[in-house]
Amino acid sequence: MVRTGVYPGSFDPVTLGHMDIIRRAAHLVDRLVIGVTTNASKSPMFTLDERLDMVRREVDGIVDGVDGAATEIHVVAFDSLLMHFAEREGASIIIRGLRAVADFEYEYQMAGMNQQLNDDIETVFLMADVALQPIASRLVKEIALYGGEISRFVTPSVADQVRARVERIGRTVEG
Ligand code: PNS
Repeated sequence: MVRTGVYPGSFDPVTLGHMDIIRRAAHLVDRLVIGVTTNASKSPMFTLDERLDMVRREVDGIVDGVDGAATEIHVVAFDSLLMHFAEREGASIIIRGLRAVADFEYEYQMAGMNQQLNDDIETVFLMADVALQPIASRLVKEIALYGGEISRFVTPSVADQVRARVERIGRTVEG
């Protein structure tokens, strides 16, 4: 039986923390579906298509690096309930990265609600490498917006994309 896991998120932008979770998750499942949400409630820095391309490019970059894991990795957009997406993909687990105590309450509630929606699909929490623990997309954007250095938190190509976007937003703000 093929074990499928769904790793959902906004990936706005994809960080080294996300990539570490993807590598770890690839060892747990035969097929990993990275679900990129449209997330209408947030106003993302990158469009859905940009985020899909970004995640696909970064995943292509690590496929050989998922040492020994013969995992198929797909990057798919979703605009529905996470549980409906996981069911559609035939997933038996939903993977979430857990960083700190601050994440726990939200994740606990979401896992609990998802369990009520479908008790056959388990939420599994993974911890990224300790050095990558504090990384959050929101803070990467904030640091970049204030001209700080983000190269320790994202890959060079993502850093370039974020800097280019910040420059464009800056020019828009300045009129
Ligand atoms: O990267 P994020 O913002 O932490 O990802 C959040 C995500 C995509 C997992 C969450 O917003 C989500 O599941 N959205 C789909 C809507 C949904 O299923 N909401 C109810 C969850 S109980």
